Amino acid sequence: MTSRTFPESFVWGSATAAYQIEGAATEDGRGPSIWDTYSHTPGRTFNGDTGDVAADHYHRWQQDLDHIAELGLGAYRLSISWPRVQPGGSGRFNQAGLDFYSRLVDGLLERGVRPVATMYHWDLPQELEDAGGWPVRETALRFQEYAAGIVAALGDRVHTWTTLNEPWCSAYLGYASGVHAPGRTEPAAALAAVHHLNLAHGLAGRVVRELAPTAELSVTLNLHVIRPESDSPADADAVRRIDALANRSFLGPMLGGAYPADLLADTASVTDWSFVRDGDEKVAAVPLDVLGVNYYSSTLVRAWDGHSARSDADGHGASTHSPWVGADDVDFLPQPGPYTAMGWNIDPAALTGLLLRLRQEYPGQPLMITENGAAFDDVVSADGTVHDERRVDYLRRHIAAMADAREQGADVRGYFVWSLLDNFEWGYGYDRRFGIIRVDYDTQERTWKDSAHWYRRLVANGRLDE
Ligand code: NOJ
Repeated sequence: MTSRTFPESFVWGSATAAYQIEGAATEDGRGPSIWDTYSHTPGRTFNGDTGDVAADHYHRWQQDLDHIAELGLGAYRLSISWPRVQPGGSGRFNQAGLDFYSRLVDGLLERGVRPVATMYHWDLPQELEDAGGWPVRETALRFQEYAAGIVAALGDRVHTWTTLNEPWCSAYLGYASGVHAPGRTEPAAALAAVHHLNLAHGLAGRVVRELAPTAELSVTLNLHVIRPESDSPADADAVRRIDALANRSFLGPMLGGAYPADLLADTASVTDWSFVRDGDEKVAAVPLDVLGVNYYSSTLVRAWDGHSARSDADGHGASTHSPWVGADDVDFLPQPGPYTAMGWNIDPAALTGLLLRLRQEYPGQPLMITENGAAFDDVVSADGTVHDERRVDYLRRHIAAMADAREQGADVRGYFVWSLLDNFEWGYGYDRRFGIIRVDYDTQERTWKDSAHWYRRLVANGRLDE
């Protein structure tokens, strides 16, 4: 058995998101979000599941914070529900909503846990979608106002502010493939959404700098690791195109202050990008204290010759509309197993490669794994325990892969397991369980799975035994 030791300063945490756990969808003045509308639309989510009740965290938050403390975590990544604190998405703030997050943040601090707060984990106020959503510039300005309201209320009690979670999903799944809210399938709108999310990030980041100068600033991206099927130039070009859409459409402006020229050229038949105004890309490039990386799985592509059968195994649901705007000539290939219950392949080595790529391309930029975890079909034993050895194995192998990258110089400062609790897995509803703590949705009872016990030991020892 080998062991890896992590320094005292390494931050271990777990992550959740408001719509996935809170429930209380109409309580205390919360307004509707695009996910309320989407999940209540027949045929959109598995089983017609909605986040109306979810894991009832809105009422059980103290108990959930006690679990976080018992796990010994140093940090907890939560998200703030925009429609709970600013129901219409502009103007009036809802004090009851702000008070909820204020209590939550204080509850974490009392337990010695750092709050890491995401401003936007996909729950856009419905009124803003009705006015055009992320494809219109006004939404970015509304986000700046919302950010000012929550940062004024919570300020530097929040240790790390994260502007956006996985804007790739908000833009391309929300507006191109339509498998996420608001469920639109308009390729040009998806690219406009990309831009306004980048702009929103920069505007909100500047709000954090101004109103909470001692807080850390971050963003969380689901960066893709894309491999070619062969070493042909055509497959290399397929990788380049998907890398531009998946990764560099956000990394470019946010970390480099400019969209990559190849992205603009590749998508020229979809849009002329005239929604980008002078100075926007510089606004997006607000310096980050830490870049958050969400990682689950990897991607295999090839150039499509236009004739052979396509696989389209991109793991993002059954939409006939592709999230890969302007890249119809790229095919996504199935990968060797084993797979998680999401059908995603398990590929820890790709995480090492991703972290080393970031180290090379953005030297000096501290990194954090803000999500990593796995859904499996958990079985509850007769005595109520859940022996989720596949989840333990998944976590162990990915934490080892992160340790490999650290040993090779990647400045990874923390790791957050997704997720603290079983929760509403978006289009898959309650059918897919990512928690290290099981939620019985009939009773709302919480039960530690073996993975929770394993993670507690890892965190307590600061040591991974392989
Ligand atoms: C990323 C998202 O941020 C989170 O909301 C989701 O539940 C997990 N991936 C698993 O799909």
